Amino acid sequence: MQTILITGGAGFIGSHLVRHFVQKYPDYKIVNLDALTYAGNLENLRDVEHSPNYVFEKGDITDTVGLKDIFEKHRPDGVIHLAAESHVDRSISNPMAFVETNVMGTVNLLNTLRNLWGNDFANKRFYHVSTDEVYGSLGEEGFFTEETRYDPRSPYSASKAASDHFVRAYFHTYGLPVVLSNCSNNYGPNHFPEKLIPLVIKNIKEEKPLPVYGDGKYTRDWLWVKDHAEAIDTIFHGGRVGETYNIGGNNEWKNIDLVEVLCDIMDELLGREPGSSRRLITFVKDRPGHDRRYAIDASKLKNELGWQPSIHAEEGFRETAKWYLENEEWLLRVSSGEYQQYYEQQYEG
Ligand code: NAD
Ligand code: TYD
Repeated sequence: MQTILITGGAGFIGSHLVRHFVQKYPDYKIVNLDALTYAGNLENLRDVEHSPNYVFEKGDITDTVGLKDIFEKHRPDGVIHLAAESHVDRSISNPMAFVETNVMGTVNLLNTLRNLWGNDFANKRFYHVSTDEVYGSLGEEGFFTEETRYDPRSPYSASKAASDHFVRAYFHTYGLPVVLSNCSNNYGPNHFPEKLIPLVIKNIKEEKPLPVYGDGKYTRDWLWVKDHAEAIDTIFHGGRVGETYNIGGNNEWKNIDLVEVLCDIMDELLGREPGSSRRLITFVKDRPGHDRRYAIDASKLKNELGWQPSIHAEEGFRETAKWYLENEEWLLRVSSGEYQQYYEQQYEG
């Protein structure tokens, strides 16, 4: 029996990861530690919340005392750290929240683990989940590898870069057994509708304008979120200590092309006139400091550990659009803010 503590498990990627671990590893105890910010939604995990190997702990990674109590109670063998402020546009309007959670929260977590584990690191592991955005912005050509120099350009990516540096510093200085991954943009069910894909799906459904920043030719490499969960599992169990692995979808899309495909998929699913939703596309003011292109070279992960993305792009976009249409209530409760009362009803009521 080992205990794995996952931070940020009520968020988009975290909830897929928690479900993956709870279902795949009945012999592990999975502790989900999450502060339940606006991005944390325990309704994402309704299907596994009564599993005997699952525990939820409400906790903030910036709270030193609270963190110590939760870690001493569960004494995890492994920690997979996803808790973060994750939205670039929010980081532009409020950078300090990103410093507090992403940088100070991560260092707090590292210190908590050093205190808990002492110098006995046998069968212990700290896994830091990060983003490809730390590498900066690419031109038309080239890919990010694990050797690419860090060049973060938004407050979000600067805060994630700082947290990556601290994690590596704790490996080199104190011998903490860490492993890291830097992943491209994820998409799939339960994505909070402030991010491009769920926002566009929601607005097409409601026949509202689809805001495309700048000229729409910004490029992202999109990965199916369940493939990310599978990759994290692979790296958590097989990755070499002290190493970093890039994870990507090998699936580059210019924003405008992606929005057009989503329009066409939604028209088909909703039985609307083909091409009709494209009229909703509206070019709006650009994001300040907008990174032009991200693209990942994930060959290290493929060659060392055999992981590859499983799903074809348009199949994944269709699955995602279908999920949002079939889970209207989830979207309604997220849009109205009602999901934030679920914790009180479920765990305190
Ligand atoms: P998310 O915003 O959907 O979820 C973040 C979760 O962290 C939420 O449940 C929130 O309640 C929790 N949280 C926030 N602050 C906290 C705090 N102080 N203490 C405890 N919990 C806190 O984010 P996501 O998109 O699921 O991303 C998860 C991780 O993966 C992040 O570290 C992010 O940088 C990284 N990542 C995301 C993507 C992506 O495309 N979404 C890509 C690569 C890497
Ligand atoms: P986003 O989903 O915020 O992810 P990230 O900024 O972390 O890559 O945005 C994806 C791309 O879509 C990015 O180039 C910004 C762009 N975008 C829009 O054009 N319109 C929008 O309303 C949003 C939220 C994003």
